[in-house]
Amino acid sequence: MEKYIGIIGAMDEEVSALIQHLTDPEPIAAPFRDLPMFKGRLRDRSVIIARCGIGKVNAALCSQFMIDRFPLQALINTGVAGGISPLLELGDLVISANAIHHDFDTRNFGYDRGTIPSMNVRSFPADPQIQKEALQIAKHIMGAERVHLGLVVSGDQFVSSTDQKNEIVQFFPDALCVEMEGAAIAQAAYVNRIPYVIIRSISDKADNTAPDDFDAYLDKVIPKLNEVVRELVSTI
Ligand code: ADE
Repeated sequence: MEKYIGIIGAMDEEVSALIQHLTDPEPIAAPFRDLPMFKGRLRDRSVIIARCGIGKVNAALCSQFMIDRFPLQALINTGVAGGISPLLELGDLVISANAIHHDFDTRNFGYDRGTIPSMNVRSFPADPQIQKEALQIAKHIMGAERVHLGLVVSGDQFVSSTDQKNEIVQFFPDALCVEMEGAAIAQAAYVNRIPYVIIRSISDKADNTAPDDFDAYLDKVIPKLNEVVRELVSTI
């Protein structure tokens, strides 16, 4: 039996055009409030696309529901992110090599920031093969200089000041971008042994102008991101 590729985005803007591209779309009734989810075919692959809502709890709930309900070959988290690395420009694309919860903090018990003590895990590695495919596809569509592979950090905060951003950089100097769901989806994928990747387009630089930039760039950066996601689906 063909397995499904799960695609999760937090906001309508991040998944609605992908849902519109589905052949034979079929809504799926989820047990939770406000979790729109569709089954269908995208680039001749069976996919499930969900709008999970903002934040790590929503992302984890949605991931686990999808995993329990459908045999999944892979999980893709798509959406926008705030640029942390100075190498990133608005509209650039980030592909996760790994993901960490930047706001998971039990340093008082001797753990590094981001480590989940009971699991003794800090960083959730993305699937190497899917990462490679995503990188190749993204470079082809966007141009190599606009595509970056590395660490994505997630937390339940919209990062919108240089102080907040610097605090994250202090603990995670390698972080490329910050968002609010990826590490939760990565963690769900890890415990369920499902390959995953996060693909994010940079909508702001997580600084004092981030809220305005986010509003201005959200719709502008999604089309290229969707192109990459659609192409990636055909290779998994
Ligand atoms: N998603 C997009 N921009 C973000 C930011 N600055 N902080 C958290 N999540 C984001």
